[in-house]
Amino acid sequence: MKNKLIDKFGREISYLRISITEHCNYRCFYCRDAEHTPNCKREDILSYEDIQRIVRLFAELGISKVRVTGGEPLLRRGIVKIAKLISSVDGITDVPLSTNAHLLGKFADKLFKNGINRVNISIDSLIPERFKEITRGGDIAEVMNGIDEAIKAGMSPIKLNVVAMRGVNDDEIESLIDFAIDKGIDIRFIETMPIGNAGIEASAQHISEKELLSKITQHLKGKLTPIASSKTDGPASSFKIDNTQSSVGVISAVSNHFCQTCNRVRLTAKGDLILCLGQEDSISLKDAVRSDLSDEAIKAMIMNAINKKPEKHVFNSVVDNISNRQMAEIGG
Ligand code: GTP
Ligand code: 5AD
Ligand code: SF4
Repeated sequence: MKNKLIDKFGREISYLRISITEHCNYRCFYCRDAEHTPNCKREDILSYEDIQRIVRLFAELGISKVRVTGGEPLLRRGIVKIAKLISSVDGITDVPLSTNAHLLGKFADKLFKNGINRVNISIDSLIPERFKEITRGGDIAEVMNGIDEAIKAGMSPIKLNVVAMRGVNDDEIESLIDFAIDKGIDIRFIETMPIGNAGIEASAQHISEKELLSKITQHLKGKLTPIASSKTDGPASSFKIDNTQSSVGVISAVSNHFCQTCNRVRLTAKGDLILCLGQEDSISLKDAVRSDLSDEAIKAMIMNAINKKPEKHVFNSVVDNISNRQMAEIGG
């Protein structure tokens, strides 16, 4: 029988998010400080062998979905090799990528052929100047090319991630939905989360799930059918848009947290296993996988850590709970 990783609140952990680099070619103002540059030496970062061993051990424990994130994962040299080695691990059936898509045009086809079956793409505006401002230098034309190449490569589903912010892009909710429908792909609107100084500052522009849903339903009156989520899904609550190929969803981490159904843990590029996006608990796996500890001993470490997974985040009560962490270090 297949193993299952169950935490002390009875949640089955089936989804691992791995950040493969802290570097990013964009500097979205809600994600990272303008000046922040990651400071890490090559040996600090998980190697191919480290990643492969950790994924294999997680798969043996019951994980089936491994998301590749960053920073910007396409900046890591060897991204195609990493995709291949993760997707080749027995038991891993879903290997999505989260990317800003600036480099996706170049990589989509190769990645798809090497096991990245689908992709989530950040896009907060369709207006070139505004996009450039939000990302502090990003180029929407490259992102559009990335989206088209991902479609062409056959990745599916493709999901757009929009961080919705008052006075920044709240006038584009309708046009972003229409864009997704036109491309035949999915879209989700994300509430800003107070993670790191950048996220805490951006919380001033927070828009609640309730308001987002009201804008979405007004725009798509009578055309929305709720989609039931499955065991390994991320945190979005989504609706199929009738007579289209698209769905629209909301990720409401702050106003209506979804911790009771949390099925995921995170591994940073430096090998820390983070048990909750909104809490500081973590254990380092890097030294363990580089030591002569047996597989069984490392699996016991992982199970022990999972058992300490917090019940929920505390964004609402302790706003600066993880003020010293950058979202881009955690991998979203
Ligand atoms: P799917 O597997 O396609 O459902 O993707 P996903 O939503 O799990 O991944 P993605 O990288 O696209 O993340 C979208 C947003 O959801 C990001 O802003 C993440 O930070 C946020 N998110 C994902 N998991 C969690 C979580 O456990 N807690 C909180 N608070 N936010 C999360
Ligand atoms: N609040 C909400 N979402 C964020 N992301 C980055 N920083 C924040 C934040 N403070 C999102 C990115 C990307 C995903 C992986 O995380 O826009 O879509
Ligand atoms: Fe880079 Fe993504 Fe953070 Fe933007 S949200 S700065 S693209 S890691």
